[in-house]
Amino acid sequence: MKGVILAGGLGTRLRPLTKITNKHLLPIYDKPMIYYPIEAMVNAGIEDILIVCGGNHAGEFLRLLGNGKEFGLPHLNYTYQEGEAGIADALSLTRYFVGDDKVAVMLGDNLIEKNFKQAVDDFEKQERGAKILLKEVPNPKPYGVAEVKDGQVLGIEEKPENPKSNLAVIGIYMYDANVFKIVEKLEPSARGELEITDVNNAYIQRGEMTYSILDGWWGDAGESFESMMEVSNLVYQTGANHKS
Ligand code: G1P
Repeated sequence: MKGVILAGGLGTRLRPLTKITNKHLLPIYDKPMIYYPIEAMVNAGIEDILIVCGGNHAGEFLRLLGNGKEFGLPHLNYTYQEGEAGIADALSLTRYFVGDDKVAVMLGDNLIEKNFKQAVDDFEKQERGAKILLKEVPNPKPYGVAEVKDGQVLGIEEKPENPKSNLAVIGIYMYDANVFKIVEKLEPSARGELEITDVNNAYIQRGEMTYSILDGWWGDAGESFESMMEVSNLVYQTGANHKS
């Protein structure tokens, strides 16, 4: 399975911090944010990784990460997202890299405590379709929220006013190569982006979506100043070693 980490965008919700650097290069406790998703991927057994950079200061990713030696990798791949057209748009840039393979996509501002290797192994065995990871949270409103019944995802709503559950769709997604055909047909949402939630709902409509519940804490460090601070505290208090 290929791995893709999305680290584009202008990080407008974190201005002025993101005026002079890219959001994913900001510190989360003792490391730049982007380190954590890379470590999480490597610990899930995914070593062929493409980083989608974007926005300002994208060259700094190369200076920081080089060829991935610090993560035990022989090589890292990079590409650049022009503009800010959303997660699904960034994903479309990875088509040449993924080819006919399956792909695990992780948002560069998402941090998890433990590892998601079990989900990767399960998706390797899944014949086709997609898999998402869910986590129960006290306030799901800023996220994609899943409605689940009898082990099936019925649908996902993006940032709903009245969430149908407390299950946030976290920023780790697994797809078969059909994902690129789905992205081609998407229309921009009200916020002018190609939404990953629309991709996931397309798989749900096809009856090809599975899910698992994430073990350990999860945080979206790029959502707000508060979430960034909370995630930093979690890393400080419990660590994020992804070993178990
Ligand atoms: C994105 C997705 C959302 C998901 C979240 C996880 O939100 O659109 O469905 O729950 O990442 O971090 P965004 O960060 O673009 O607001």
